[in-house]
Amino acid sequence: MSQTLNLKQAAQALAAGELILFPTETVYGLAANALDPIAVARIFEAKGRPRFNPIICHLSDGDALKRYATIDPLSAELIEAFWPGPLTLLLPHGGRIPSIATAGSALAAFRAPDHRLAQELLALCSFPLAAPSANLSGKRSPTDAAMALEQLGAAVAGVLDGGPCRIGLESTVVQTTGSGVHILREGGISREALLSAGFVIAETSPGDAPPAPGRLSNHYAPEAALVFIEGWDETKAAMLRELLAEETSRRGPRGVILSPGPIAGWLRELLPDYPLLILSPEGDLRIAAAELFRTLDRQRPPETGFIIAIAAPERDLGRAINDRLRRGAAVHIVPDAHSD
Ligand code: TXA
Ligand code: MG
Repeated sequence: MSQTLNLKQAAQALAAGELILFPTETVYGLAANALDPIAVARIFEAKGRPRFNPIICHLSDGDALKRYATIDPLSAELIEAFWPGPLTLLLPHGGRIPSIATAGSALAAFRAPDHRLAQELLALCSFPLAAPSANLSGKRSPTDAAMALEQLGAAVAGVLDGGPCRIGLESTVVQTTGSGVHILREGGISREALLSAGFVIAETSPGDAPPAPGRLSNHYAPEAALVFIEGWDETKAAMLRELLAEETSRRGPRGVILSPGPIAGWLRELLPDYPLLILSPEGDLRIAAAELFRTLDRQRPPETGFIIAIAAPERDLGRAINDRLRRGAAVHIVPDAHSD
């Protein structure tokens, strides 16, 4: 039986080893006491998540982090610049985080959420919160309480309802080395934001880090088949018409086109009668990011048979939007890769 919890009830449930759903500025999380290995095991069970995929520990701030991790100077600068906020850091935990949460790695992932309710909840808890996104493994992350309850309501004591999430995409996961900041997952803090704060982005893999499984393909798959087009522009109108005809004959007549926004006006002219989902008519990538998962979630068979999603510009939050679309896609089309 699922229900809305108040802060006190949520903290009590967590202290008793139960799971709860809670809001952050990125997406809703499925939380447990990170220091209670049995409670953390319940997270893996509830999500159907493979045990090799480690979980982020949420804390109130950099001071709380000092109790659980060794913080190198570059990570300390990142924390100073971006916490609380959508930036997750991998740091040596020295055994202070149970190995079930780190999948046996010497590094644990930490982040301080920038959300009033999440912070108030953390203040009531004497432990960090282990919390992956509150979706079944491989599905989209929920960006409101109803989406979270639909997927995981049966497994939790209840939900702390904070309304829709401000950012709508998961945090950026980084690791520092002597070469700079390695981005392991694009997310709420863009590459451009890191650069303009003066950080050096290291393009090589950090070597000793396990690959973040959130980077595997096949994540974020929506109910309706997703066809993702990259490198498409107004000059490829014929290609889009062909693709529509093809998908319609393969999957049935009910398709929609999803566009982050910048080419919305042009798409409308090209396909005046076709259902278009424009995430942000002004092409504001922050609004597009916030709307993405909710919009995909509403597209379900039989009403919608397929979604043709056109890539966002590959900058700012557009990178994270494209990353999620790429990994949720049943079909991925890169027209330029096929032309000679
Ligand atoms: O915005 C977010 O990050 C949300 C909210 C709830 O905080 N959480 C989230 O968690 O997206 P999750 O589990 O869905 O994604 C966490 C990512 C995964 O790709 C996981 O593999 C990686 O972080 N990760 C977690 N701990 C790690 C570790 N110790 N080493 C390497 N990667 C890790
Ligand atoms: Mg996730």
